Amino acid sequence: MKSIAILITGRGSNMHALITARLPLAIKAVISNRPDAEGLAIAKSHAIPAHVVDHTQFASREAFDTALAKEIDALGADYIVLAGFMRVLSDNFVDRYPRRIINIHPSLLPSFPGLRTHERALEAGVKIHGCTVHFVTRALDHGPIIIQAAVPVSALDDVNTLSARVLKEEHRVYAQALRWLAEGRVEFLPGDVVHIRNVPVVSGSLIAPKE
Ligand code: GRF
Repeated sequence: MKSIAILITGRGSNMHALITARLPLAIKAVISNRPDAEGLAIAKSHAIPAHVVDHTQFASREAFDTALAKEIDALGADYIVLAGFMRVLSDNFVDRYPRRIINIHPSLLPSFPGLRTHERALEAGVKIHGCTVHFVTRALDHGPIIIQAAVPVSALDDVNTLSARVLKEEHRVYAQALRWLAEGRVEFLPGDVVHIRNVPVVSGSLIAPKE
């Protein structure tokens, strides 16, 4: 069975969704860069080892990333799963784990990379928003996409209503992406485009607002 290490920074709801999805993957540990992350207690309550690599204790990003890599290598995890991990990883770190780091981002990439995605989607007036699970590469929030979920946006939405709608889908698609990885069904086509073996072609469409 393949194994993962889950990296978090705070609340840990995606991490929780992955733990309870009963994936055919061994969760070696949860690692937080903040000692006060709420997700640490959730991990412990599921008997998953919870580690802290506190970024404030390191003089540089490189030094923090080196300590993080040491922790991950000691665990021997096949995949590094970023679940609300709010630190940008250095090129050295990313290069160390090619096609082995996965992230969830709360927008339909390549729209709205970076922070404040829901605010920016509302400001832009988009009618469809969503989330993306992708491999991590050096280019922030631009790695090969595994799965996306779209949700309608109402002009009456605020950040709370929109982020809640997206988060519900995050929990679904992150578990699905990791299940495909566990099953060995994720392959790379030329141009680094991800293809999932043996999935039916999606039919139908989402039109928002409703016609
Ligand atoms: C999620 O929306 C995730 O996509 C983003 O940060 C949020 C973390 O939430 N990167 P949680 O910690 O998983 O509850």
